[in-house]
Amino acid sequence: MSIFVTRRIPESGFAVLRAAGVPFEVGQDDDERPLAHEGLLRGARRHPVLLCHLTDRVDSEVLAGPPTLRGVSQMAVGYDNIDVAAARGLGVPIANTPGVLTDATADLAFALLLAAARRVVEGDRFVRDGRFVAWGPNLMLGAGVGPAPDGAKKVLGIAGFGRIGKAMARRALGFGMRVLAWSRRREDTDGVEWIELDELFAQSDFVSLHLPLSPSTRHLVDARRLALMKPTAFLINTARGPVVDEGALAAVLRARRIAGAGLDVYEREPVVHEGLLGLDNVVLLPHLGSGTIETRARMAVMAAESALAFVRGERAEWELKA
Ligand code: GLV
Repeated sequence: MSIFVTRRIPESGFAVLRAAGVPFEVGQDDDERPLAHEGLLRGARRHPVLLCHLTDRVDSEVLAGPPTLRGVSQMAVGYDNIDVAAARGLGVPIANTPGVLTDATADLAFALLLAAARRVVEGDRFVRDGRFVAWGPNLMLGAGVGPAPDGAKKVLGIAGFGRIGKAMARRALGFGMRVLAWSRRREDTDGVEWIELDELFAQSDFVSLHLPLSPSTRHLVDARRLALMKPTAFLINTARGPVVDEGALAAVLRARRIAGAGLDVYEREPVVHEGLLGLDNVVLLPHLGSGTIETRARMAVMAAESALAFVRGERAEWELKA
């Protein structure tokens, strides 16, 4: 019984596999590129358990074999790359790595919010380009995040109020913001006002997305919702790229119909819509949400432990509920 690890994981995860004495093969030992689909198929034929990543398309062909997989352990909290319905039909359990990346992802979302509002990346380029010739009272003014001098609070609208959305709310409350939230199931939390989604877009100075990708959230942020936003507002996306219609977003940013955006995820990752690349009012990151040394080390351990549970025919602690 062995495990196919589709791409190299942090050493902590390999240590767990080695200590258990369970053989494993690494599909792609190169940090730059994902494993090609044929490689994934070949690996899934040779090993009954997969330890995979969000870059692997785990479709019915991968799952069904022969032989049918005994389990899929994904080193991520999101699992929209896995055909969950097919896995359920085949009785293949899936595990993910929830909880441990909540704070890292919320930190990055808040970093994007601050960077976009206060023009941090633009300012860095300005200095490096030798354009900083004098301090100026009007130089590169940004949007405030904390309360204004008259005490007026900036409004953060959080779309999707799961673990990461709530962690984002805690950060925003610490910054003295007013926090609005929307999720499918209404949840009342201290200091946070629940609001309908369209109203959230209309009233917020910053909209931050924390929703999983599903057929109902694909292009949830489309041209119509972008048009509801204030011209001074910013959109932050650390969830999944296809939640936003990237072409529509590029168009409103180019026309300055909203003030700016901070993006960590893209519709056709790693391809970034070319309309975004030339704009200075968007901050672009390469999907770094959970990317801290400590968080990735823990995710690798969780993913390895789930893979071992599947090898042993046991239930994994972080297995998705049926
Ligand atoms: C990262 O995007 C994750 O889902 O863990």
